[in-house]
Amino acid sequence: MDVGFNKMDFAFTFNDVILLPGKTEVEPSNIDLTTRIGSIVLTTPILSSPMDTVTEEEMAIAMARMGGLGVIHRNCTVEEQVKMVKTVKRVESFIIRDVITVSPEDSVEEARRLMREYGISGLPVVVSRRLVGIVTRRDIYFAENSNLSVKEVMTKDPITVGPEITPQEARKIMARYKIEKLPVINEFGELVGLITAKDVFHRELHPFAARDSEGRLRVGAAVSPFDINRAVALAPYVDVLVIDVAHFHNENVINATKKLIAEVNIPVIAGNIGTYEAAEEAICRLDIIGLRVGIGSGSICTTGEVTGVAAPTLYAVAKTYEAIKKYSSKVAIIADGGIRGPGEAAKAFAMGADAVMLGYALAGTKETPGSTMMIGGKIYKIYRGMGSPSARLKRFTLDRYSKPSKDIAEGIESLVPYRGDVTTILDRFIAGLKTAFGYVGAANIAEMKLKARVALISHAGMNEIAPHDVKPFEKPYE
Ligand code: XMP
Repeated sequence: MDVGFNKMDFAFTFNDVILLPGKTEVEPSNIDLTTRIGSIVLTTPILSSPMDTVTEEEMAIAMARMGGLGVIHRNCTVEEQVKMVKTVKRVESFIIRDVITVSPEDSVEEARRLMREYGISGLPVVVSRRLVGIVTRRDIYFAENSNLSVKEVMTKDPITVGPEITPQEARKIMARYKIEKLPVINEFGELVGLITAKDVFHRELHPFAARDSEGRLRVGAAVSPFDINRAVALAPYVDVLVIDVAHFHNENVINATKKLIAEVNIPVIAGNIGTYEAAEEAICRLDIIGLRVGIGSGSICTTGEVTGVAAPTLYAVAKTYEAIKKYSSKVAIIADGGIRGPGEAAKAFAMGADAVMLGYALAGTKETPGSTMMIGGKIYKIYRGMGSPSARLKRFTLDRYSKPSKDIAEGIESLVPYRGDVTTILDRFIAGLKTAFGYVGAANIAEMKLKARVALISHAGMNEIAPHDVKPFEKPYE
């Protein structure tokens, strides 16, 4: 630094600015928050953070059903992470492809065992892949003895459909024949899939869910750029891999990411970055669909405090957006860290973000990993930084941080009040965000970036626009 104070940059952040109200013609109900990260379309522009107290399968399922995206953490073995991803992928799909089947000669006992093991209520019956019948839990209940063979209790010639069936057609056929399972066969009569009433019902229950082309929920997974084995193991199942390092603007990290991208044939989000130069390199050197942006702003981060180095999320978003515009890049900006509620998220969108990543704002909900604990009559859950001493003990995420920091904690462990269902929390978040868009007069994220006017605000001003001079009963978003 040889330029003195005169040429210093201003690293403003959320609490330094406000959005000015603009003339509006939109009502919150007409606002569309849909965003795009590469080819992934999200009706809710929110990702859950890959932290071991935020995102495992339960959170990822809830996020995708709400139209967002869960990113499964990597503070576990490869097998554990792959299993979580597979669970999300299996929970719903329009046409199930890896169908569990039985043969007509199998015993009823074997069919019962398979149903119990896989938690399913019906099995197509096949001979060399050709469908010859279907056996359901009901058939088995009424089987007088377990030594009977499947062919003696199955329904022969079940109603079937071809692979081109649409969800609406499937629903109609199931309603007409009052059946819950619809085998899908090809022109040779071979079984190629199965549609269940439960999956058709889920589609109707969550019409805005983030789904892949097979109707399965979308899910992301965090990886280290140096762990190609993990990336390769996850690649067949995930929709996107998220590079998970604290400081992406590092020659070794960029080169390793390049290798990883060449190895896996699925989209990659890189991060975290915080400056124009880092964004420029990432955009120009790598084939990525998104960037996680913000360093040191996380509610559980101590990086900035310990090292004096940080790129607050709003500053990082603004700088990354400059690079995105300069190169007319389609890489999405994901604002990550310090977003407590919809107000911070709205400011991030105004400055150029396409989506936000949340840790704290989702922490303490039912869907986060870990159990609740009662302290002084109140219920809490743990929320910790991936660089906190306890998270480091598991050792899988040590390479998130640079070598010297292996001995220094860059995060803390905390207790957050238990907040119930994440769906309720997200509904409130989305409602708040839509209200912000309404005040600005923006009908969607692209308009927010164009129309929003951002003003600096003094500390006194910030105090004035929050509740003051009274003792509130309840703090928002706690
Ligand atoms: P919020 O504010 O939503 O931030 O809780 C979540 C983000 O914080 C980052 N993260 C960390 N940063 N030390 C850090 O410096 C840590 O231990 C740590 N753990 C998580 C991460 O980007 C996350 O999405």
